Amino acid sequence: RMSMDYYREYILDHYKDPRNYGTLESPDIHSEDSNPLCGDQLNMDLQIEDGHVTEVRFQGRGCAISQASASMLSEMIEGKTIAEVIALGKDDILEALGIPISPARSKCAFLSLRVLHRGLAIAGLEKPNDEDDEDE
Ligand code: FES
Ligand code: FES
Repeated sequence: RMSMDYYREYILDHYKDPRNYGTLESPDIHSEDSNPLCGDQLNMDLQIEDGHVTEVRFQGRGCAISQASASMLSEMIEGKTIAEVIALGKDDILEALGIPISPARSKCAFLSLRVLHRGLAIAGLEKPNDEDDEDE
């Protein structure tokens, strides 16, 4: 098991050098949402081909946890089937972050996940889900 320091470095690395940062010119799915606690916004674009997410970009403002988890999530999404992406949940984010996330920061940690699932719901690929409002 990796040490806490390792994970802190890993989070900072994703924060300073976010993967898949930006927007797509003509995304198949575009979604956005904000963290109700701080107002920070995040948007996400997905390109879908043959039932796979071929490209993902996110853009937003926020704390290290929110930006790093978005960056990590983008890496998890890329190349996956729609079904695999739908199945991604909070556990996957927590596992990637690797440090304990306090309830006060859970909205930060799960913001990108919320934006992702909102996009999938908008595209009619999954049912809208209010689960993300229950993390406190
Ligand atoms: Fe995200 Fe405080 S609301 S760190
Ligand atoms: Fe705004 Fe974390 S403080 S997303």
